[in-house]
Amino acid sequence: MTAPRDGVALLFVGARQVVTCAGPARARRGTEMRDAAIRTGIAVLVRDGRVATLGDERDLRSSAPDATVVDCAGGVLTPGFVDSHTHALFGRPRFEEQELRAAGVPYMEIARRGGGIHASVRDLRARDEDDLVALARPRLRRLAASGITTVEIKSGYGLTLDDELKSLRAIRRLAAGLPLRIVPTFLGAHEIPIEYRERADGRAEYVELLVREMIPRVAAEGLARFADVFCEPGVYTVEESRRVLQAARAHGLALKLHADELEGGGGAELAAALGATSADHLAAISDAGIAALARSETVATLLPATMVFLGRTRQAPARALVDGGAAVALATDFNPGTSPTTSFPLLLTLGVSQLKLSVAEALVAATVNGAAALAIATETGQIAPGFSGDLALHDVKDVRELPYWFGEHRCTRSWVRGKPCHQYDLPVS
Ligand code: NIG
Ligand code: FE
Repeated sequence: MTAPRDGVALLFVGARQVVTCAGPARARRGTEMRDAAIRTGIAVLVRDGRVATLGDERDLRSSAPDATVVDCAGGVLTPGFVDSHTHALFGRPRFEEQELRAAGVPYMEIARRGGGIHASVRDLRARDEDDLVALARPRLRRLAASGITTVEIKSGYGLTLDDELKSLRAIRRLAAGLPLRIVPTFLGAHEIPIEYRERADGRAEYVELLVREMIPRVAAEGLARFADVFCEPGVYTVEESRRVLQAARAHGLALKLHADELEGGGGAELAAALGATSADHLAAISDAGIAALARSETVATLLPATMVFLGRTRQAPARALVDGGAAVALATDFNPGTSPTTSFPLLLTLGVSQLKLSVAEALVAATVNGAAALAIATETGQIAPGFSGDLALHDVKDVRELPYWFGEHRCTRSWVRGKPCHQYDLPVS
């Protein structure tokens, strides 16, 4: 996408570090993730919404006397974080389930009792588009306040043609009305709706509805860039997932997959075989799945906050994935059931302390590889000439403080396409 040539120039000066993540405009795999290309003593010029030059402050001041100077006051400048996996469009939160799980009722059992995703589906169906937009807006502003400048949003709490279209139209309105870069994903295969579960042949009927009506309509209206499926024992089988994703591809959508989240069973292998843009979760991935992703172009998107919030001890084998040569991204999975967090810095903490990534690997996972997981690695994810002016300024002196002060937000300002996105003194709700 080309930003309008508005002639506006911003010159960022006085940053103690500029984490550029500069390098190839594609997913970084394996050892390539070790270098976040951190620079000191440089200024950054953004013009017409794009990074123009990185260099000596005096040189840039004289080359761009018209630029508005942004004083970074000794803070750290990073590419805006790319949150490539959220379910940010939902109605009421589901805090009652947290205590139930603490008392020993597993996530899937709550769903079998009609709670979980089913509860969010009942709730969303009863709301209109305006209501959904109004509920999502402050939540997206909170995501932005943590340094996120790009956010993927999935539908998937509607599960009828009309309710999925309503959700995707709400996402389109949010994208038009907020400074964040928003990428929409169709997740009509988030669950088998209860009304279909209760009928013999209901599962097959719902899969047919997805393939024959919902996907063609969503694609024809241009409402989503990706399609996703919750491939997990008890939800969609590998074969059902394959059928839905192949139909989505035939209609021009790119592919994502919730793969091997809880028990697993071949999701990662399916994502790799289909050439999906990303395979997400992977806490229960097999050795064969790790090998398949390492050989493929599919980004392994890890969502460590989900496992923590569910109270599970097993995290995705990030080290084995990176050391095997895969490209790993980090995302919030922001949703009302398993990951009600809007904090990207928390993910950096979990990325280092739980997934055993280095800080540089976590930063690359949060930026370049998040962008690759949305097929926009040529557009955002790095502070390098030609990339979109998507930047976040953090009130820390060393980028290693971002994962260190865990539970804190240090992002004070951010920009998308060189335009203000978040500013700390704006109310976030
Ligand atoms: O990524 N796994 C499926 N979807 C979400 C949970 C959605 C929900 O519980 O509402 C996830 O964990
Ligand atoms: Fe998810």
